[in-house]
Amino acid sequence: MDDNARPEPWWHGAVLYQLYVRSWQDTNDDGYGDLRGIIERLDHLSWLGVDGIWLSPTMPSPDQDWGYDVSDYTDVHPELGTLADLDELIAAAADRGMVVLLDLVPNHTSSAHPWFVDASAAATSEHRDYYVWADPAPGGGPPSNWLDSTGRTAWQWDDRTEQYYLHNYLPEQPDLNWWDSAVHREFRQILEFWFDRRVAGFRIDVAHGLYKDEQLRNNPPAEDDASLDNRFGLRSVYNANRPETHGVFRDWRQIAQGYTPARLLLGETWTGDFDRLARFYGDNDELQLAFNFPFTFSEFTAPALSGVVEQTMAHLPAGACPVWMASNHDVGRFATRWCGDDERKIRLALLVLATLPGTVVLYYGDEIGMANVKVPLDRRRDRMTIEDPSGGRDRGRTPMQWDACAGAGFTSAQTKPWLPIGDNAARNVADQRGEADSTLAFCRELISLRRTEFGNSIAPYQPLPSPPGCWVYQVGDLIVQANFTDQPQPTRQVGEILMASYGEQPSSGSVRLEPWQGVVGRNGSDGGRND
Ligand code: GLC
Ligand code: CA
Repeated sequence: MDDNARPEPWWHGAVLYQLYVRSWQDTNDDGYGDLRGIIERLDHLSWLGVDGIWLSPTMPSPDQDWGYDVSDYTDVHPELGTLADLDELIAAAADRGMVVLLDLVPNHTSSAHPWFVDASAAATSEHRDYYVWADPAPGGGPPSNWLDSTGRTAWQWDDRTEQYYLHNYLPEQPDLNWWDSAVHREFRQILEFWFDRRVAGFRIDVAHGLYKDEQLRNNPPAEDDASLDNRFGLRSVYNANRPETHGVFRDWRQIAQGYTPARLLLGETWTGDFDRLARFYGDNDELQLAFNFPFTFSEFTAPALSGVVEQTMAHLPAGACPVWMASNHDVGRFATRWCGDDERKIRLALLVLATLPGTVVLYYGDEIGMANVKVPLDRRRDRMTIEDPSGGRDRGRTPMQWDACAGAGFTSAQTKPWLPIGDNAARNVADQRGEADSTLAFCRELISLRRTEFGNSIAPYQPLPSPPGCWVYQVGDLIVQANFTDQPQPTRQVGEILMASYGEQPSSGSVRLEPWQGVVGRNGSDGGRND
């Protein structure tokens, strides 16, 4: 067993922390965060009490999609550091009782990956079948109606070998062909390479996407374009979401399970369908964790959120561990999306997140209520959303706000950071550490309560009768009462109140929930009742 390993399954009841490496801490004044920066700032995470860190892509990449276009799966991007730095980071995290997960991108590579360079050199080359190649449709033009993530055709014509290749994302991100057993062999080796280096597991990018329809059939029109399973008016039936992908995860689970402690597979399982979400857990033989996007995209109301939680619980197989996340590098920050930067709502969201059963994934900055940042057009870095008038994905990827100084403690005052810094005077770690009732202090208290109450378990969840606009539930021994309205609301009497999201700590006899307030309590011997 690894030194300092946590008892398995350590992710039950745990808090993971997604860290966007380029935006966390810059140590060489090039304006980009780096691995040494994470080592320097590890104490923040152990102080906060998280169990594990998921690093956004760390592998060499031409950065057309900031690391999600990998050109070498077994190394570290030179701008971020070296393999030795990563080893040191894993060891330093372990010393503090934390594990490190990497981001793995098996759906596609970079077009600069040697496999693709070879594949596109000749139709007969060794790696040709690693990718999805097809002749034009009988009448000419792309082989199918599939669209990429920008809404353009997903097929790129290759002049040299006179076929199209598939890219569900940018043209510089050719999709791998999982019908080829050699691709399976390559990825098994990649998994083992990192697991042998004590990487605790992977967040698996585009986990729903690996296999495509063998006959490349056209996607049917979407009935409901708002659904997560659709893209630009088409239902992603054939360019993703294929049943064969589950076989890959069963295979990887065996590899993960062969290590002590078992390595963790956390999928970016992009679906709005709870049955489909549930299937990623398999018969406890596929992914141990699957991201729940209906939750992330839920409205911030009691009926919407509680509805998603109930649906999730009803669909997941017995013993499966749900995952809750509100912000990430694609969807941006919940402080803005859900809460309109209202501190009461931010604290309520943190309270709810921290008291849901299973695994919670915080995004860097969530703990201080960091907001989306308006990135002017001339500072935009994300090609995929460069035309997005709402600010694209860059708005949620800006530097961590460590302090109120120029550079925000992220980089030196003289360095131009890769993305602009948000309002670090309003929200930063240093100031919030100095205040006993800051959002940061509150978040830390929540995490500590979570560990005490739920550590290594999936606490049973039960909704309780709730006043309109409120969400009241029992989870383990805790009673959570969350008021999602602008009005005070009656509370349920509980034996003991442990925490309130803001305002005076209510006593056990307290009678009302303030607007947008949440409280966590514990049942008294009478079992609690509604007043
Ligand atoms: C995932 C990543 C996103 C990336 C895309 C293509 O959705 O989270 O950032 O652009 O996959 O790899
Ligand atoms: Ca740097």
